[in-house]
Amino acid sequence: MAKVQIEGSDAVHECESGTRMYEAIEDGNLKVPLGCLHGHCGACVVEVVSGSLAEIKEGEKLALRAFDTEEDMRLACLAYLDGDVVVRTLKP
Ligand code: FES
Repeated sequence: MAKVQIEGSDAVHECESGTRMYEAIEDGNLKVPLGCLHGHCGACVVEVVSGSLAEIKEGEKLALRAFDTEEDMRLACLAYLDGDVVVRTLKP
């Protein structure tokens, strides 16, 4: 199992490890902006505050590079859960 929490919120959503983060966000009504869901728009960039996600895949790496993000940033639409994680949203 894996839990997702947004920093500053008490809301937590629990789901299976291996779930894509955006699915947990939608299912748990967590407050993270979502857009294209394919790594094109950058709406879903989050910073990992604690915990970790599954190893980053090449497509997500390329998308993050295009958005000029820092280390520890991930795309909620492409990242897979692998245990408990707390993330910070970058966009309101
Ligand atoms: S929702 Fe567009 S990049 Fe993730």
